[in-house]
This record gives sequence, C-alpha cells and structure tokens, in this order.
Amino acid sequence: MTVKKICCIGAGYVGGPTCAVIAYKCPGIQVTIVDLNQARIDAWNSDNLPIYEPGLEDVVFARRGKNLFFSTDVDKAINDADLIFVSVNTPTKKTGMGAGSAADLAYVESATRRIAEVATSSKIVVEKSTVPCRTAQSMRTILEANCRENIRFDILSNPEFLAEGTAITDLFNPDRVLIGALQTEEGLKAQQALVEIYTHWVPIERVITTNLWSSELSKLAANAMLAQRISSINALSAICEATGADVDEVAYACGRDSRIGPKFLKASVGFGGSCFQKDILNLVYLAEQFHLPEVAAYWRQVVIMNEYQKERFVHRIISTLFNTITNKKIAVLGFAFKKDTGDTRESAAITLIKDFIQEHARVHLYDPKVEHAQIYMDLIEPGVADSKAQVEKHLTICSSAYEACQDADAVVVVTEWDEFKDTHLDYQKIYDSMHKPAFIFDGRLILDAPKLRKMGFKVEVIGKHNLAGTA
Ligand code: NAD
Ligand code: UDX
Repeated sequence: MTVKKICCIGAGYVGGPTCAVIAYKCPGIQVTIVDLNQARIDAWNSDNLPIYEPGLEDVVFARRGKNLFFSTDVDKAINDADLIFVSVNTPTKKTGMGAGSAADLAYVESATRRIAEVATSSKIVVEKSTVPCRTAQSMRTILEANCRENIRFDILSNPEFLAEGTAITDLFNPDRVLIGALQTEEGLKAQQALVEIYTHWVPIERVITTNLWSSELSKLAANAMLAQRISSINALSAICEATGADVDEVAYACGRDSRIGPKFLKASVGFGGSCFQKDILNLVYLAEQFHLPEVAAYWRQVVIMNEYQKERFVHRIISTLFNTITNKKIAVLGFAFKKDTGDTRESAAITLIKDFIQEHARVHLYDPKVEHAQIYMDLIEPGVADSKAQVEKHLTICSSAYEACQDADAVVVVTEWDEFKDTHLDYQKIYDSMHKPAFIFDGRLILDAPKLRKMGFKVEVIGKHNLAGTA
C-alpha cells in the first residue's frame, strides 16, 4: 500500500516538527496536523510558530498551504488519511493508580477512540507518543471493539528520538528510525508502507524494523540509558568537588574509550526536559508491575541522583554566599531546560528559583526565548507564591543578561545558551556592575573560570573543587 495522506493527531513539540519534515521531504504526500488546542493551531498557521526550533520556520513556511496543513478539524483529517500518527502528550499521572510514575494514557486513549468512531475506511495507526510497553495492544483492542464493519486498523510503533533544540537536524539526519509491527502479513505490509515514507530521505540501513513490543520498550530504554549517563557523570561531579579531580577532565578521559564514547557526559545542574524523568518513571512503573523491584530501584536511582544534583547546587550557592541569600539579589541566566529551545518542562531552573524564593532572595532572571507567562506559570507554588502577583514579589524578568546582573550579589548560570559564554558576554562589564564580592556559579561548565577569577569574580563550578576557597 502507498500512503498518500497522513494525519497527525497532536501538534506539539513532536507532532509539529516530525510531520512538517515528512511534508517537506515527501511533497507527494498530503500531511494534516490536527490538535484540539485552537490557539496552538492558530500559531502554527501564523508567522509566529508555537515552538522555537532552529530551522523549523524554513521547513514549515516552505510547505504550509501546499502539502502541509494545520487544523482543529480532527474528524475530517482522520477520515481523509491512510495513515495516522498519534503524537499526543503522555505525561506522568498525577493522581490515582501509579500516580507519580505511570504514564497518563488518557490522551492516547481518547485519540484512539476518536479514530475508531469517525473512520469510514481502513487506516494504519502509528504510535508516535512515548508509551509503556504493550500500549499498542490496548489501542488495537479499543479500535477493533469500536470500529465500523469491514474496516481494519494496523498498528505500528514508531517512537521519536529527536531532541529539542536540534529537532530539525535530528529529523533530517536521524541515527535511526525505529518501526515496530505485529509479525503478521498485514502488520508487515503496514510496516513496509511506513518504511517507504521514511526512505524518501533516510538511508534504508538506518531504518530498523522490529516487533511492536521491542519498539515500544526501546524508546523507554534509550532515554533511560541517556539519562543514566548524565546521572553517572553528575554523581562523579560530587566526588570531583570533594577531591580536586576535574569533572570535564574525567569525562574526557572516560569518553575517549571508544566503548564509552564522549556524548552525554557533560556534568550539569541536572537534566530537565519533558522526557527523561517521565520515561524513566514509566520504566520504573513497568518493572514494578512485573514484580521486579530491584530493576525498578536501579532505574529510579537515576532520577534520585538528578534531584540530589539540583539540591547540592543550591546548597553550594547558599553556603558560599555566607549561609544566607535572604534579600540578596541573585541573577539567574537561563530558564529553558537546555539551550536553543523555549521549552521549560522539568527545567532545573524551576527547582532552583523556587528554592531561592523560599530563602527570600530577590531573583532577577533572563532567558532569551522563554515566554514570560510560562515562567510565572512554572513558578507559582501553593503556599509559597500562589499567584503571579506573589511570584512578582520575588522575581523580576529582565530583557538582557546585563540588566539581570546589575547590582547582583551572585550570577547563576542555569541554561547553557551560547550567548552566556564569556566569548559572547562582556563579563568585565558585569563584574563592574555587581555588588562585591561578586560571585558566579556555573551550573553548565560553559565559563572560563580562571579568566573570570582574574577579573575578580569568585567562581564556583559544578564538578570542580575550588582549592582556593572562594577565590
Ligand atoms: P505536547 O504536549 O507538546 O503536544 C501534544 C499535543 O497533543 C498537545 O498540543 C495537545 O493539545 C494535543 N492533544 C492531546 N490530546 C489530543 C486529542 N485527543 N486530539 C487532538 N490533539 C490532542 O507533547 P510533545 O512534547 O509533542 O510529546 C508528544 C509525545 O511525544 C509524548 O508521548 C512524548 O513523550 C513524546 N516525545 C517527546 C519528545 C520531546 O522532545 N518533546 C521527544 C520524543 C518523544
Ligand atoms: C531527550 C533525548 O535526547 C531524545 O532522544 C528524546 O527523543 C527526547 O528526550 P531532550 O530532552 O529534548 O531529548 O534533550 P537532551 O539533549 O537529551 O537533554 C535533556 C537534558 O539533559 C537537558 O536538560 C540537557 O541540558 C541535559 N544534558 C544533556 C546534560 O545535563 N548533560 C549532557 O551531557 C546532555
């Protein structure tokens, strides 16, 4: 079967870029991306796209209105399509059974039910969302129990491996595309139809075909392993700070071993993002459900270490600032969970700033991309700052790094935006404008600490022991 029309349910960080790239690379296929959120769809149809990703505008503007459409008419797009990507959110459950670790599959289920209800012809349904292993089985059961006569649904698993900030280059040139299918004649035919879409631009040897369950589990496994590397280097960063070893040197020395490799060994204030924590907890829940407590505890430790890393950094800041930050002005550089994105989900900055607010510091924040409304939403905390007005008592959002650092007692680098590097910012100017002693805490290892110390700064860096105290 050759796919001519694609529908993608969910116009978020994954559905939007992924299906825009399919439209870009396959001009003969009509792609319609739908969402229930009218504001999001309006933004996709405007000059101001709802998410920031380098290169995304070029792709969208090249194909929008030609073979790429954004709409809230979910039913029509479902009905017209031969193949439907389900790319809705699967957050961690907040209440009920499995709260705090299991994935909330309510959005996947409602999208699946909608497909069953409105489809008047057979479809290939592709799980793009990250889901627990065996979710495809539940989707199949729902579809088969609710569909009209003589309609069949073939389910595929095609997890997405793009990282935010590099989504377009990741999609143009993926390490691999993974497509899982039931090992039946029809399942394999559906798998082949999706392989043919990707091979418009992805070399065939990078397309991996597996059974459904391996594909679902591989997505959770890949994220767990990536996050585990970060927690491992962050655990070592604590030992470095205590001993005088330098975490960058340790990471480099270990990463030069070709069996280990250099990537994902950058120590930091802790990983953030909508995926790592959620997907590990999802794996933990799966292990618990299969009565594998040791396996669950093993993976949970990756998340525990990440929380510890954030706590440790906050303690280091407070203890260095003479054990109190009450009324001190703290300049925070960065709010996004990593550079080149406006996404703040699970960003370490949220935890850090909430802690600073609890200590009654005056926080002045600058981030080049994050929307101000998002910052307030992330920082509202019942009992501490339960409204925007309450947050504003402790937080000022600034329009430049220089403005945030003016008269500050300390600068804390939380996101590794290139513009915060000492090759871009004039740190002498910042030093001159700060209260003395002027402290800098580098949570991303992006600054040249010896150079800043020469200017007069007291510099503290994750994973580096300050042998001269705060000098
Ligand atoms: P998102 O929250 O940005 O987007 C999901 C969209 O789905 C929302 O706009 C929501 O309104 C819409 N939606 C929910 N239910 C719907 C329904 N029934 N009908 C129509 N629209 C509906 O989420 P995201 O970051 O794009 O993530 C989507 C999935 O992809 C998740 O499972 C996530 O784990 C996975 N994933 C995310 C990333 C990432 O970097 N963000 C990477 C790989 C995989
Ligand atoms: C991740 C996976 O990389 C991607 O394959 C998957 O599809 C979605 O989840 P993402 O969360 O967008 O992507 O970004 P990623 O680059 O993985 O960074 C996640 C977090 O880890 C960020 O906060 C980042 O700053 C941090 N990180 C990353 C480190 O602290 N050190 C590193 O060495 C790498």
